[in-house]
Amino acid sequence: ENGLSVAIDGPSGSGKSTISRRLADELGIGYLDTGAMYRALTWYCLDQGLPVDDYDAAAGAADSFPLLMGNDPQDTRVYVGSTDVTDAIRTTEISENVSAIATNLAVRDTMRRLQREIIEKAVRAGSGMVAEGRDITTVVAPDADLRILLTASSDARLARRAAQLNEEVTAEAIEATKAQVLDRDAKDSTVVNFTTAADGVVLLDTSVQTVEETMEIVFQLVATTL
Ligand code: C5P
Repeated sequence: ENGLSVAIDGPSGSGKSTISRRLADELGIGYLDTGAMYRALTWYCLDQGLPVDDYDAAAGAADSFPLLMGNDPQDTRVYVGSTDVTDAIRTTEISENVSAIATNLAVRDTMRRLQREIIEKAVRAGSGMVAEGRDITTVVAPDADLRILLTASSDARLARRAAQLNEEVTAEAIEATKAQVLDRDAKDSTVVNFTTAADGVVLLDTSVQTVEETMEIVFQLVATTL
């Protein structure tokens, strides 16, 4: 019997990663962070001295870079070759460069193909998968059993991202995060739509909800698919 497939999209700070990882963990199924794949490729290009806006170089790198990541929600380490890039792909430098890579349509083609393979394999094997990103509900896995788009107000998203990046959520921390988060969303939006829910996609606004409250709704949605 096929495993469960869940697709979750949303902008930065929507709570997407926390919710997706928790869901996979509690259901005991696989977890795929597609953003980590774009981040890892960005890290690789910078490491190799390839300009991220060189279309052909990035496309070539996407086809051949040695990405290694598992699908265990409790072990989200990412490797490029033998280098553990788990922390390195979360730096400001990567966040500022990742959109150049992610708006490269040849790169997206390769990434989407890889992502579909990973998801289909897990579903066929009966283990199932929660995959999160920007285009999972619409392009990568439009036939997933459950598709959710998480949104939140810009204020809520900025406060969450600032809390992830800084110890104290001061006005300055929020301001500094703003350029990073909103610029990235604006650039990403030129190639993927992650602000309006496609047909059959459940829209969940998490602006005023705790993780627990959102998890409860997500579990109810999962129950309706079983
Ligand atoms: O989810 P996260 O913020 O880590 O994603 C990092 C970047 O990867 C996004 O800003 C976007 O440029 C790209 N991305 C994408 N499509 C996805 C997932 C991520 O373009 N499915």
